[in-house]
Amino acid sequence: MTKRTEHLEVLISAEQIEARCKELGAQITEDFAGEELHVIGVLNGAFVFLADLVRQIKLDVSIDFLGLSSYGSRKETSGVVRMDSDLSLPIEGRHVLVVEDIIDTGLTMNYLLENLETRRPASMSVCTLLNKSADRRADVPIDYVGFEIPDEFVIGYGLDDAEFSRHLPYIGVVPQPDES
Ligand code: IMP
Ligand code: MG
Repeated sequence: MTKRTEHLEVLISAEQIEARCKELGAQITEDFAGEELHVIGVLNGAFVFLADLVRQIKLDVSIDFLGLSSYGSRKETSGVVRMDSDLSLPIEGRHVLVVEDIIDTGLTMNYLLENLETRRPASMSVCTLLNKSADRRADVPIDYVGFEIPDEFVIGYGLDDAEFSRHLPYIGVVPQPDES
């Protein structure tokens, strides 16, 4: 227990995440049978999930990353998305799977998909570990969802609170001051 985890409630355990990664990996393997898959991870949040997910995909897989950030406070995104680092590889003609940690308003994914579409991939699919759809503001297509979660601020397994707690092996909820 640390200062930043002492009031944390576990929402999704490491065991639940591991089981779901296996299911998602099996589904993706089936859906792209006979194809090569180009997996794109959205930094920083997706690095843990991507690492576990790709090891459950039994296909020829290549991997690249890009970095995005959105301005705004912790709980309120501004909808203004910035690309901090671009892909290293072209995606033209490839079957692309974008891997995210969480989709909340959908504004970040909407921006990303519009950007990637212009590079003419053969196909584009989206896999998110968490789907927080209560405050959805952009209609983004999501092909694979790990878990549907309520409108809470969650951390761990890649997700941060001001860059802390990404290393936790589970997903936790930080109780808000007005709730405790
Ligand atoms: P969206 O643009 O509102 O869909 O938000 C996407 C980004 O906001 C995610 O990639 C996360 O970086 C961040 N985010 C949204 N909800 C949470 C949360 O509950 N915990 C940590 N980060 C979050
Ligand atoms: Mg993120």
